[in-house]
Amino acid sequence: MENKRGQWGSSFGFLMAAVGSAVGLGNIWGFPYKMGANGGGAFLLIYLILVVVVGFATMLGELALGRKYGRGAVGTYAAIGKKWTWVGYMGVASGFFILAFYSVLGGMVLRYMVGFIAEMFGMTGFGGLGSGEFFGGFTTNAGSMLIYYAIFMVLNIIIVSGGIEGGIEKFSKIAMPALAAILVVIIVYVAVQPGAGAGYAFMFVPKFEAFATNGFFNILRTAAGQMFFSLSLGMGCMITYGSYLGKEQNLDTNMVIIPVADTCIAIMAGMAVMPACAAFGMDYGRGPGLLFVTLHEVFSTGMGGFIGSLMGFLFYFLVLIAAVTSSISLLEVCTAYLIDKKIEKGEEPDRKKLTLIIASIIFVVGIPVALDGLGAGRAGGAALDIPATFLGITENIPMAVDCWLDLYDCLAEGIMMPLGALMMSILIGWVLGTKVIKDEVEETAGVKLTMYKFMEICFKFIVPVIMAIVLISQIMDFFG
Ligand code: TRP
Repeated sequence: MENKRGQWGSSFGFLMAAVGSAVGLGNIWGFPYKMGANGGGAFLLIYLILVVVVGFATMLGELALGRKYGRGAVGTYAAIGKKWTWVGYMGVASGFFILAFYSVLGGMVLRYMVGFIAEMFGMTGFGGLGSGEFFGGFTTNAGSMLIYYAIFMVLNIIIVSGGIEGGIEKFSKIAMPALAAILVVIIVYVAVQPGAGAGYAFMFVPKFEAFATNGFFNILRTAAGQMFFSLSLGMGCMITYGSYLGKEQNLDTNMVIIPVADTCIAIMAGMAVMPACAAFGMDYGRGPGLLFVTLHEVFSTGMGGFIGSLMGFLFYFLVLIAAVTSSISLLEVCTAYLIDKKIEKGEEPDRKKLTLIIASIIFVVGIPVALDGLGAGRAGGAALDIPATFLGITENIPMAVDCWLDLYDCLAEGIMMPLGALMMSILIGWVLGTKVIKDEVEETAGVKLTMYKFMEICFKFIVPVIMAIVLISQIMDFFG
């Protein structure tokens, strides 16, 4: 059984894969602008507290359950009790929908990287257009969006087909150190540009008045949602990665290393992105447009010339690495489900075939995300209507139906993931008992769960309460 499923080859390889899953678009794109818009240093303080009181415990819970039962999300919850299997299915479904929109975004990142490579060699990589114009034209061009989306998905299929040690681990062991190195180069280059200081200030200066203007609960919810997505928690991703861990691997330290590394890279990403915008006079408070429109302009008009193209290439290459190491973990959740099912039936699982099947289905489901011009709809020149128009909703369009990406995101990140995390903490805290987790950690010779008392309080009280708050406010927010 062990061999059919695969295993991590080394602790370093596992850590690179797990940190790779965590570090993704959420860190480089979401974190800096959410931090700036929600109180700067004040947001960071709340975020750090949440990582300690919610992130550590949830990370530990997922890794330990995965290793204990040796199966993916569905198999693990089924092993806990037949009546909990739905929590596992919800996880696989979340992975399915997140991967669909995540890969469309990944494809777009690839397009920008290719554009800057072309510019480095003196060609026009963006049709000679300004950043806003190019973005509008590209996102409403069905052909380009689909091609880059497809290439990104094929990359995922190739890596996940290679298996745990020979695919995911092998890729992450090279990609993650490369990502860290590129990030440092960009941070240093940006730091010496005149005017960069305002960007650090936007991010880090604590604006406690934001608690009053944005509302404390809003900030808490934004920070908690961001932390969950960023740490790849709540849908069985870390359960699945944990299921490939041997008993010799130290969960007591890994539960801390992964969240800390993820948080450091999120902060570092902010230190690259925000000061770069500030130095070249771009509006960094813009929110979601940041990754494509604003940063494109920073590199092509702000920095300009060969160095601008080189930095642009390096930056989007870094984002691409971050996106791929995350998307493969989402695909693995779905693939592992099919593999476990085969093994349960006593059949020989064919990883390559199963990966190809599930990725193809996900690709089809993601097509609407690639075709509605990210919310422009047919009215804005895209090939497909936005969900609201599609479904005939005209009045008071809630966020969930203003584009296909938001619809998928709201289903997965908005509802299923917080519900999944809530269920897991209740199961560990109140049904199974936290001792199960402690025993699993202490399966490793010489290892003691150092924060047991604290973890118990987290599982029983803190995580369920925070997740309930997130779930309720998320639903209210997404549906207007
Ligand atoms: N953590 C990744 C990011 O920050 C995205 C991701 C990968 C994810 N796997 C996940 C999010 C599982 C939630 C659940 O971009």
